[in-house]
Amino acid sequence: MSQGLGRPLDILMQEGGSSISPFRWEGGVLYLLDQRRLPDEEKWLSFTNAGDVAGAIKDMVVRGAPAIGIAAAFGLALEAARLEAAPSFIDLWEDACSLMLRARPTAVNLRWAVERMQAAACLNRKAPSSLAGILEKEAVSIWIEDISANIAMGRHGAALLPDTVRVLTHCNAGALATGGYGTALGVIRAAVKMGKRIEVFADETRPWLQGARLTAWELVKERIPATLIADSAAGLFMRKGLVDAVVVGADRIAANGDVANKIGTYTLSELARANGVPFYVAAPVSTIDSGCLSGDDIPIEERCGDEIVFMGGRRLAAKGVKAENPVFDVTPNALISGIVTEKGVLSPPYGPAIKACLSGDQRHPCFIALD
Ligand code: MRU
Repeated sequence: MSQGLGRPLDILMQEGGSSISPFRWEGGVLYLLDQRRLPDEEKWLSFTNAGDVAGAIKDMVVRGAPAIGIAAAFGLALEAARLEAAPSFIDLWEDACSLMLRARPTAVNLRWAVERMQAAACLNRKAPSSLAGILEKEAVSIWIEDISANIAMGRHGAALLPDTVRVLTHCNAGALATGGYGTALGVIRAAVKMGKRIEVFADETRPWLQGARLTAWELVKERIPATLIADSAAGLFMRKGLVDAVVVGADRIAANGDVANKIGTYTLSELARANGVPFYVAAPVSTIDSGCLSGDDIPIEERCGDEIVFMGGRRLAAKGVKAENPVFDVTPNALISGIVTEKGVLSPPYGPAIKACLSGDQRHPCFIALD
C-alpha cells in the first residue's frame, strides 16, 4: 500500500462505520469480490494485469459506475508495474488504457478514472521507473476519494428524507458498486446513522438481479430493514402510498441533468411522478459528463440477449425467440426532484446547477453547496 494516504478500508470503517468494499489491495495485487457469485459465496479473485481487470469489468465480476472506475485505475497501476522494464513502456501502457476504456461504455466513471491515471502518468513521463509507484498512489487516492465522496453524499441526501421514511431503490448503488458505502445506499446508511426510521424496498433488477443478490445482501448484512420486490411491483407499492421517496444511483449524468442508470430507472421515475413520490439521484461529481449535452448523447450498453433468455444456466424463454438487452436507460431531468453529490444538492434547472457545482459557484440558487 502507498505510504501517507491512509488505508481505504480503515477510512471506510472509521468515517462510514461500514466494512463492505468490493476491493482489496495487498502486496501489489488487486483482489475483487466476485459479485456474480453473491449472495451464495464470498469469493475473492486476484488480478495482476490490466487485461484481466478489463475482462472482470466486462464480465461483471466488478460492476457499478464508481467501482469500475476504481478497478480500472488499479488495473492500470498493475500494468505499469508489469511493464516497468519494457522498452516501449508508454505505448504498451496506453494500449492498456484503450483496452480498459472499451470494457463497458455507459458509466463515465471508467473514462474519468483512466484519464486521471493518464494525467498522472503524463506528469511523470520522464521517469518510467518510478511510474508504477506513482500510479499505485493515484489508484489508492481515487479509491479513498470515492469513499469520502459517498460518505459526504450520504449526509447530504439523508437530510432530504423525513424522519420516518420508506425508500425504494433500484439495482445496486451500494458499497459493492463503489469504493465502499455506496451512493443511493450511502444515503440510506447515513439516514440510519442519523437515527431516521427507514425501510427499504429493493427492486430485484432483471436480468442480473443486482437488487435481489447485492442490495439485499448489503442491507441484510448491516441489519437495515429491507423488502425485496419484483421490478414490476414498484407501481403498485407507489400507488398504495407505501413509498415516500425513490433514491437511485447513476452511470452518467449529462450536462442538462438527464441521468443514465440501470434499465428500469426511467420507468420508476415516471411512476414516481404519477404518484407524487420524490425521485432523487445520488452520484459523485465524477459521474457528471458535461461533454454529453443531453441523455441522447449517452451511449447505452447492449448486452447479449441470452442474459434474459437464460437464468443460472437454465433456459427461461421459448427457443427461437428474439431477445434485446439494453442494460441502461435515461431518465429525463424533468422527472428528477434532486441530484445529490458530495459537493451538495442540485435542483432544477439542472444545466446551471451542474455548471455551478462543477465550478464551485456557491451562490447559485440551484446548487446548495454543503460542507
Ligand atoms: O450493470 P451495473 O450493475 O454495472 O449497473 C449499475 C447501476 O446501474 C448502478 O445503479 C449505477 O452504476 C450507480 S452505482 C453507485
